Amino acid sequence: MQHAITISTPIDFHLHIRSGRMLKTVLPHTANEYGAALIMPNLKPPVTSIGQAEAFKKEIMQALPEDTAFTPLMSLYFTRNLTSQTIREASASGIIKAVKLYPAGATTNSDSGVNDYEGIRGTLETMAETGMPLLVHGEVTDKAVDVFDREARFIEDILEPVRRQVPGLKVVMEHITTKEAVQYVLAADETLAATITAHHLLLNRNAMFQGGMNPHHYCLPILKRERHREALVKAATSGSKKFFLGSDSAPHPKGEKECACGCAGIYTAYSSLCLYAEVFEKENALDRLEGFAGFHGADFYGIPRNKGTVTLVKEETIIPDSFTFGEDVVVPFRSGGTVGWRVAG
Ligand code: DOR
Ligand code: ZN
Repeated sequence: MQHAITISTPIDFHLHIRSGRMLKTVLPHTANEYGAALIMPNLKPPVTSIGQAEAFKKEIMQALPEDTAFTPLMSLYFTRNLTSQTIREASASGIIKAVKLYPAGATTNSDSGVNDYEGIRGTLETMAETGMPLLVHGEVTDKAVDVFDREARFIEDILEPVRRQVPGLKVVMEHITTKEAVQYVLAADETLAATITAHHLLLNRNAMFQGGMNPHHYCLPILKRERHREALVKAATSGSKKFFLGSDSAPHPKGEKECACGCAGIYTAYSSLCLYAEVFEKENALDRLEGFAGFHGADFYGIPRNKGTVTLVKEETIIPDSFTFGEDVVVPFRSGGTVGWRVAG
């Protein structure tokens, strides 16, 4: 049995940190394990301009120690008003690494998202031309489509037609949850990749109902059947460069999770790298963690691989019940439980 593993400092390619007090509480958890993270733009109001992204980046840097080695990689929110001009400026700016598309109404803070894909074709073409990656929350929002089928339908109804109409567009299917998505990504050319969360690798949909309804296991896309979880584990640990780490750690105040109509989102940042290590260890694939946790994503985005290293030690580690921010708390994944690894140092 391996007792420690040293890997290149990883990058989280899909992270929610919010802003204000929540940001100050959650950001150190990620900065402690990762060298960089791609920060999602679904703030209230969403990050739709380069100026807003710059201000958000400044807030992030101010919340970190001055000598931090952590780099926030910024993204823009795709609204129907996003222009080709902004894409060109974002591309030249150096700080914007991607544009995130939420189908309107699909998830938390997605009201300003897109519902007319014909209307955004010109902007997508400029993204293809400039090499700006499109990140998709891949779920249809049609109320008639079962919540467990929304990802598979998005591939058929939206993603495949868009990719056919805009050849060369670089796309990341974020937080994939189904066997269909794994197969689609594997069959596509090198312009398509996918992120996979730790919680979708560790849980199937039973986890939402085990011992009563558990709002801390509610996220979007929703957890799926065991056969889908197995397909995700196989993909993540396969060594394929098309799959990489994106935790989708999504903190919400406890009261907004534990209530009628609670928010979607699982807060994994406190231990996400260690949670991924559990999955890779179980599959005898710890030697592939480094690629999944940094190289594959960096190469897809065309950004430098991190230079430093992080050592993970195999040691049962307690996860706190909650973390305080202001008057409120955020409850982490496996609150009060344990994770089998810890980050050394
Ligand atoms: O579970 C989720 N939470 N899925 C998302 O797509 C958004 C995220 C959030 O921002 O809370
Ligand atoms: Zn997300």
